[in-house]
Amino acid sequence: MYSIEVNNLTKKFGSFVSVDHINFKVKKGEIFGFLGANGAGKSTTIKMLCGILEPTEGDALVGGFSIKSESELVKKNIGYMSQRFSLYNDLSVSENIEFFGGVYGIEKELLKEREKWVLEIAGLQGKEKVLTASLPGGIKQRLALGTAVIHKPGIVFLDEPTSGVDPVSRRAFWDLINSLSESGTTVFVTTHYLEEAEYCGNIILINAGKLIAEGNSKELKSKYLTNTILEIECTPVIDSLSILEKASFVDETSIFGNQIHIIVNDKYTGKEQIKSLLQAKNITVKSIENIIPSLEDVFIHLLEKN
Ligand SMILES: Nc1ncnc2c1ncn2[C@@H]1O[C@H](COP(=O)(O)OP(=O)(O)O)[C@@H](O)[C@H]1O
Ligand SMILES: [Mg+2]
Repeated sequence: MYSIEVNNLTKKFGSFVSVDHINFKVKKGEIFGFLGANGAGKSTTIKMLCGILEPTEGDALVGGFSIKSESELVKKNIGYMSQRFSLYNDLSVSENIEFFGGVYGIEKELLKEREKWVLEIAGLQGKEKVLTASLPGGIKQRLALGTAVIHKPGIVFLDEPTSGVDPVSRRAFWDLINSLSESGTTVFVTTHYLEEAEYCGNIILINAGKLIAEGNSKELKSKYLTNTILEIECTPVIDSLSILEKASFVDETSIFGNQIHIIVNDKYTGKEQIKSLLQAKNITVKSIENIIPSLEDVFIHLLEKN
């Protein structure tokens, strides 16, 4: 039922705790999102789960094998796309594919077939001889993913696979992740783009090495953010923000373009309260709406609290 079971996993570098006693489980075939800001401990966790970095404390079962005592078996049964994708820029497309086929021990006959499949995934049919360095970022990422799953592993770890590519390529990449998951592969994916969490089944959020939230998108919204949240459109927006930040009925503020989201407390009496406060300071209020929080609202709220 579970592809990954993590138990008190911890990594220390000297006295610095990079990953702090984390626990979670990943179901077979799901897209599991691992979210957190830069430096939160995502890559360190992934490297431990892939059997390439030894935990200081705790253990995990990945595909049924212990990362501590069976790391060689773990490595054979997973695919891993590292943050700086693992492709060699000075090799051609097909040379990269063949190199990774070799790393994962694929026999020659099978390799031809798998190479075709990877080319298809990356949309690189007929471009086998092209130098990898000259590929656009989005295509390179698809090729990196293809080579990471060339041996058709049951579980694949993707470390920020969409960072640094344009939104259209990012969307296309998520379609690719979806099709992998639909064919039964467990996808463990990290991102610091909070909006990408919406594409995942279950999500965990890590901050300074500690897990601070887990659940699916719906659960996260209802479990961690129960106060009323309002969206205010007004000008000038920055002045409004500093007024609202000081208001006694406001707990938290965040800004989304020309809109402000506020989380209110029990001193809040209604929209008139906001209107009169802002209008008294010569702010033009265009609209005030009650909204269902986005995951971004939930995460900002959790990160401010922790
Ligand atoms: N080899 C290392 N030695 C010392 N500190 C490290 C090492 N690797 C990572 N760290 C630290 O651990 C923290 C988490 O890093 P990392 O797992 O790369 O975060 P993320 O992938 O979420 O951005 C950071 O503060 C980083 O500087
Ligand atoms: Mg990282």
